[in-house]
Amino acid sequence: MIRRSTNPFTPTFGSMPYALAGRTELIDDVIGGLANRPGDPNRSTIFIGPRGSGKTVLLRTIAEEASAQGWVCVSVSARKGLHRELFDGIAQVAHHLLVSKPSTTITGVQVGPLGLQRELLLDEQQSDRFRLQAIVEDLNAQDIGLLVTIDELDPACEELIDFIDTYQHLVTEGRDVALLMAGLPSKVSTLLLDESVSFIRRAFQRRLDPINRYEVEEALFATITGNDKQIDQEALSFAAEATQGFAFAIQLVGYYLWRFGYGHDVITVDDAHAAVNYAKKEILNAIVEPSLRELTQRELEYLEAMALDDGPLATSVVAQRMGISMTNASNLRRRLIDRGLIAEVSYGVVDFVMPVMRDYLRR
Ligand SMILES: Nc1ncnc2c1ncn2[C@@H]1O[C@H](COP(=O)(O)OP(=O)(O)O)[C@@H](O)[C@H]1O
Ligand SMILES: [Mg+2]
Repeated sequence: MIRRSTNPFTPTFGSMPYALAGRTELIDDVIGGLANRPGDPNRSTIFIGPRGSGKTVLLRTIAEEASAQGWVCVSVSARKGLHRELFDGIAQVAHHLLVSKPSTTITGVQVGPLGLQRELLLDEQQSDRFRLQAIVEDLNAQDIGLLVTIDELDPACEELIDFIDTYQHLVTEGRDVALLMAGLPSKVSTLLLDESVSFIRRAFQRRLDPINRYEVEEALFATITGNDKQIDQEALSFAAEATQGFAFAIQLVGYYLWRFGYGHDVITVDDAHAAVNYAKKEILNAIVEPSLRELTQRELEYLEAMALDDGPLATSVVAQRMGISMTNASNLRRRLIDRGLIAEVSYGVVDFVMPVMRDYLRR
């Protein structure tokens, strides 16, 4: 028999964590918007963050919460087949909803509401917009709202542009609908430039900032103790600090804490040091290197100039180091901020979003 020791941490993109760290404000704002009437600005929100900041998990968490409150929630990705995915998703979720309605006794697939749903969903002749309108009208008539989440925003996706247009009409008509989107900073900024979807410039833009240290500690602690293990307080603080509030790092550090703590009841400071070393290497492979590969030579040089310092740096200093004008330096800085690699910490002063990037560039 294989001996298994299941690791409760989930360092895999898109995996729901055992304990969610932080993000309560973002979640509460959207859920509050859903509870409010149609037109609430929180009902159209774009979440922006680099790879591994927790966008997919956030969309799923909010969709689960919204489902629990009676919303029909459908999740799609911004790629070819978006509408297909959307209608299949509605068919699936609305089926579930109608079956679970207390007033409806369902004994087989032919029963009333399902028949209605099939009739609506199978009419291929109607345009996607018309179909969606009909579905939303039908749901709204039963006092049910439709929440659509779109992950991996891609400005090159035509169906996305079409969908946003349809959504805009639904909002204008005062329908009970909501649209949550998530994407990388560079993709979102390109999308926002597209004139044909100027409507979504009015959507709330929310960044997935680093999660604060206490919330990270809480989540690590809850995951460890919730799975019958303990951790030394110093080890916990050290591990939480090392994640720098980066969602993927929380799972990765946690994963190795669990691995190195295998065989003893309490995870020690030594385990934590070993875990952090391993996690750093993995983050370089999974996040830092792929991000750097996408950069232009000039952008890379900007980061290299920044990496010479231990902390946040003024743009003027970088410009001087690179021997370029302030205007050029500001443009590079803007692009790197859009890519989610650096962030403005105070006026004109930027720092790395992922501190391991500095160590990496120095090497
Ligand atoms: N709030 C959170 N607390 C703890 N872990 C999280 C949180 N959000 C995401 N994660 C974890 O971080 C990793 C990346 O999350 P994901 O949602 O896939 O990021 P993104 O979609 O931004 O690339 C996953 O391993 C996931 O389990
Ligand atoms: Mg994702």
